[in-house]
Amino acid sequence: MGKIHVLSDDLKNKIAAGEVVERPASVVKELIENSIDAGAKNIDISVSGGGNASIQVADDGSGLESDDLKLAFSRHTTSKIESPEDLHRISTLGFRGEALASIASVAKVRAISTVDGGTGSEIAISNGEISEQVPGSIVEGTSISVTDLFFSVPARRKFLKSAKVEFRHVIQVVRRFALSYPEIAFNLIADDKKVLSVRSETLEERIGKVFDPTYRQNILAVDYAKGQFKITGFVGNLNLVRKRRGEQFLFLEGRYIVDRLLNSAVYSAYRSLVSRGEFPFFVLNLKAPLDQVDVNVHPMKIEVRFQDEWRVYHTLKSAVEAALAEILSTIPDLAKFEPPDAASGQDALPFQRQSGQPGGAVGVDTVERAKQYVRTIRVQPQSSEFVNLENIWQVHTKYIVSEIKSGLVVIDQHVAHERILFEQALQALEGSPMPSQTLLFPEVVELPADEFSALIDLFPFLEKIGFRMKEFGKNTVLVEGVPSEMGWEKIRGILKDILDSYETEKREHASFQEAVAASFACHAAVKAGDVLVKEEMQSLVDRLFATKHPYYCPHGRPIIVNLSLDELDRRFERN
Ligand SMILES: Nc1ncnc2c1ncn2[C@@H]1O[C@H](COP(=O)(O)OP(=O)(O)OP(=O)(O)O)[C@@H](O)[C@H]1O
Ligand SMILES: [Mg+2]
Repeated sequence: MGKIHVLSDDLKNKIAAGEVVERPASVVKELIENSIDAGAKNIDISVSGGGNASIQVADDGSGLESDDLKLAFSRHTTSKIESPEDLHRISTLGFRGEALASIASVAKVRAISTVDGGTGSEIAISNGEISEQVPGSIVEGTSISVTDLFFSVPARRKFLKSAKVEFRHVIQVVRRFALSYPEIAFNLIADDKKVLSVRSETLEERIGKVFDPTYRQNILAVDYAKGQFKITGFVGNLNLVRKRRGEQFLFLEGRYIVDRLLNSAVYSAYRSLVSRGEFPFFVLNLKAPLDQVDVNVHPMKIEVRFQDEWRVYHTLKSAVEAALAEILSTIPDLAKFEPPDAASGQDALPFQRQSGQPGGAVGVDTVERAKQYVRTIRVQPQSSEFVNLENIWQVHTKYIVSEIKSGLVVIDQHVAHERILFEQALQALEGSPMPSQTLLFPEVVELPADEFSALIDLFPFLEKIGFRMKEFGKNTVLVEGVPSEMGWEKIRGILKDILDSYETEKREHASFQEAVAASFACHAAVKAGDVLVKEEMQSLVDRLFATKHPYYCPHGRPIIVNLSLDELDRRFERN
């Protein structure tokens, strides 16, 4: 007898299940996809033990007749495609006819379904064996519950993580559907606690619900069409830029997809507004002609293939750029500023000086290298190289105007200083403290009892940004030093502000540190109305361009307005 034999159906199913059902979250994903394909308007998901113990998804979709309900759990049974050509025009989330069979081969399942308010039918499946049940009560649609995931595959069960970790994956899955189908109502219940409850709404409203309401003030609409491609959704402004990935959502006709190239298209649209290791927020839905994409390349269908990926890349990038146009227009064109009398052959000069050789004794080779050297420095210009710090003025004691090669920039002195101090304070909170100036006359500050005890808690933070203070009798502190860039008269305002944010934010959160840094920066920064001398303006501009985000203040207001020569010439009808 030969050694090769055909696998049993049960084994085939279990192997196939390995591709689709990785963890509770994959079951949730497959069940929600089926509900959406069935036209559901309401989808209720409940899990216990993070999905390790049980998962239930109930919908008000089209439902299944008794025979279909049984067939749905066999392998390669689907209502979604019929002919090979259909594979090239898939408009449903599912089409492989495998998900339910896979789930049923590795867990215990009960399914109940009703069509058009009929009596409905109910089945139970364990180890691939289907048994009919007396139908329970369900008014419309389908409800499927899955328990004891991987009970029949102990090797797999071992890989399940804690309920907490698995539940995080479940939330991620539900969140993705909630964002790609804002018109559908979702409820997510975990161990009898409501985690998410959203009714049918617009995407903008949905974003506010899924994240937090402040997101709505920080998103820009994307609505772009080119050829047969269409891109809609929202991108975040700079307030929603994070140091970690996790709030980037790209959908292809509602299907969440992972595509590094396309994500990079979005990032690149932000240009210098975000640096490496920073990730802007986006929720974008891409519509493409069905025959231009192949969704049948990955069992979980999370990766897709585009016929012309670069075309999609450029379309996506243009779509995001269009949405960001207003923000992008504030980035000045920072070419090196050269005073009008600078001779063109001067490129090599700095190198010559540095090399200490007398003029004229430099070989052609050296000059060539010198030119290269100068060019490489230019890639990362210092502000003094592209802003003409000699031609700098203060207007209306609130704006700084200066010349750049492509025109001029107008800088809001308060927000510019605020940005500088904000980044400095954040750095100080994370690492080395900021310098402090000793007050000639220490300031006595008396506070209500609760604020006093909160302030004592905050001493370590305040010391980091340059305050020096100590307890001074009942509910009173003595302030002996303040951050060196701050006037002593601002002490009370800052302390009050920081105490307020202490109430609303938890101090171990990054957002609390940001709040401390922001309120310090806001109070300590020069105000509109403060007169600045030339040296102060020069230093301000220099330091502004040394910050990570010179174009936007921590509250999202622009810092720089850019007026190009081209635009001036146009206004003066010079061209
Ligand atoms: N919630 C539901 N409401 C109505 N019909 C459903 C529901 N869930 C499944 N079905 C029916 O059962 C069939 C099998 O579902 P299953 O998820 O196994 O395969 P599929 O969705 O067709 O393809 P895929 O394996 O890619 O998900 C579906 O084609 C659909 O007709
Ligand atoms: Mg399916």
